[in-house]
Amino acid sequence: MSRTPIIAGNWKMHNTIAEATALVAALKEAGNKNHAEIIIAPSYTALAVAAHTAKGSEIKIAAQDVHWEDKGAFTSAVSPVQAKDAGATHTIIGHSERRSVFGDTDEILNKKVAAALRHNLTVIFCVGETLEEREANKTLDVIAAQLENGLKGFTAEQLKGLVIAYEPVWAIGTGKTATPEQAQEVHAAIRAQLAKTYGDEFAQATRILYGGSVKDTNVDEIMAKPDVDGALVGGQSLIADKFARIINFN
Ligand code: PGA
Repeated sequence: MSRTPIIAGNWKMHNTIAEATALVAALKEAGNKNHAEIIIAPSYTALAVAAHTAKGSEIKIAAQDVHWEDKGAFTSAVSPVQAKDAGATHTIIGHSERRSVFGDTDEILNKKVAAALRHNLTVIFCVGETLEEREANKTLDVIAAQLENGLKGFTAEQLKGLVIAYEPVWAIGTGKTATPEQAQEVHAAIRAQLAKTYGDEFAQATRILYGGSVKDTNVDEIMAKPDVDGALVGGQSLIADKFARIINFN
């Protein structure tokens, strides 16, 4: 089965409104020779302008996170209703920076997934091990638990369209990339777990992205692996020509 590749850019806490507008405008001219789904995750402040600028192109917009309630007294949080209203069709959930810096637990992430699904936002659910966990040979166990706990209670039907991002924590923003073989090993394990839990059809249809220091210079070899269906890119998604090259991977 051939899966449409996804190239997603996570801008994290970067870009003003003017910078976001210019970057999306530049990406509209980037070409898309692989017919990939292109997704950009700007800060909340630039969601609406990014969505507006992307109009008429293939670029889709994601929130970097959403709260688990639709509205209420949650100072500084943004709800899935608001993210959607600003133009998001997708949301990242469980990015390692959310887990480690902001304390998002599996239980919180599970509620956020529910909130996103309730509003038909496509979830890009992130999993990944720390260096310590990898060195202790716990990688596959850690990821299995993150998937099981974060996605607990949903059926295959409810999760239809789900995207998984495997992002080893030790590779994020460090310049250290997992080898294509390391990525493939984990991606295959994730797909096997999805098959066991949700059935083979669901597993075969689910896009599994690799994230962690994806660059214009290493994207081709990573994308060549059979279970790598795309990339979630941080640093290099901020640079128009680098991200354009990643979108147009070979
Ligand atoms: P990086 O970030 O590409 O800068 O390593 C990836 C991510 O955090 O999604």
